Amino acid sequence: MTPAAAAPPDAPFTLLVRGATAVITADGPDSSDAGATLGALPGEAVGIHGGKVTWIGPEAAIPHGAVTRGTEFLDAEGGLVVPGFVDAHSHVVYAGDRSEEFALRSLDVDAVGITRAGGGILSTVFATRAADEDTLVRLALPRLNRLLAHGVTTLEVKSGYGLTVEDELKLLRVIRQLGALQPITLCPTFLWLHALPPEWARDRAGYVALGLRTLETVAREGLAQFADAFVEQGAFTRDEARHFLSEAKRLGLAPRLHVDQLSAGQGAELAAELGALSADHLENVSPAGIEALARAGLTAVLVPVATLVLRRPVYAPGKALREAGVPVALASNVNPGSAPTENLSLTLGLACLLNGLTPDEALLGVTRWGARALGRSDVGRIRVGGPADLIVLGCREVAHLAAHLGIRHARAVVKAGRVVHREMDAARCA
Ligand code: NIG
Repeated sequence: MTPAAAAPPDAPFTLLVRGATAVITADGPDSSDAGATLGALPGEAVGIHGGKVTWIGPEAAIPHGAVTRGTEFLDAEGGLVVPGFVDAHSHVVYAGDRSEEFALRSLDVDAVGITRAGGGILSTVFATRAADEDTLVRLALPRLNRLLAHGVTTLEVKSGYGLTVEDELKLLRVIRQLGALQPITLCPTFLWLHALPPEWARDRAGYVALGLRTLETVAREGLAQFADAFVEQGAFTRDEARHFLSEAKRLGLAPRLHVDQLSAGQGAELAAELGALSADHLENVSPAGIEALARAGLTAVLVPVATLVLRRPVYAPGKALREAGVPVALASNVNPGSAPTENLSLTLGLACLLNGLTPDEALLGVTRWGARALGRSDVGRIRVGGPADLIVLGCREVAHLAAHLGIRHARAVVKAGRVVHREMDAARCA
């Protein structure tokens, strides 16, 4: 077998990941055949120099001189090596706790009852407004550590719990700070249209207009890469979202949308019309909406933990989306209400049981397609010349990853060529 590429003679490995049952590159053809797209290379090793992958091939073919006294070894001990997970939807920066909502849901209290009891998105908004930047950083860091321990190396993070100019900018600055304080690459999203704050209850148009003006500041200061809107009865209309996101796009912030979550609202069609990067949630997307996503080449982002936690009757039709040719990303959606967990492994399992994806498709959902949902082609795959973001898993088969629900499968996580998390014994498979 010939190695996929030779290491340049002047680039000895700083890190060699070896002993894998297989390296899943997720770098195969852009096809709906998940097996082909996964690109599993049996028994290979990955050579890394600095932050980049410089070589992939069988250990027996490691180029002469590539391993030096300075090379660090990471032994996969028969586990799989997969790309670092790309989690394309999160609300990980917030203050306050909403476990009480969970308890109410367990007693069959519905969304109206929860709002009456003081819960819902706005309760997090009030707690987050009251917190200063240092507090928000301190609260978010353990959540990011837990995501890292599950193998997340790239994460989209939304604002949306401030909903005043000052508090939204505060959240975006916190995301920027967090990006410098821990290893996960954070991709910030400005989510102004998340919930209508009570002080604007009599002036929806005024609130949207303020968002339009704020977009300019966000774009000028480079505080976000994306803009988002929650299109739903009780949140924002298609017209409001269209107005806000068209302006965002004009200013260079790529749109993404929360759509067709609680009810069918032709949100997928709007995402397609806007040329958004992704359409997220989609529990109630219609066949016409699926077709629109396919035609426009959008990525769907499914968040099954939220469907589960909200006790919704319908899961997003992952299988129908895949069959229509829509790449399906999976995301944690970490937030204090509908997804109070950083356990991405749970998301993978639920996607197989309830969204109709296969384990191979689920793995692609948090690698290749997660990256696509963020407009990235560098991360979410392992390729020579690409960033050395990868996970050593305890398991030998992709199916195990999804089947063993809620387990931390990552034994080691490599970000930009550095081992940033190691838990070799805890995540060993039986
Ligand atoms: O993506 N759908 C709207 N927003 C979040 C929920 C946030 C919350 O409940 O605080 C979501 O599920």
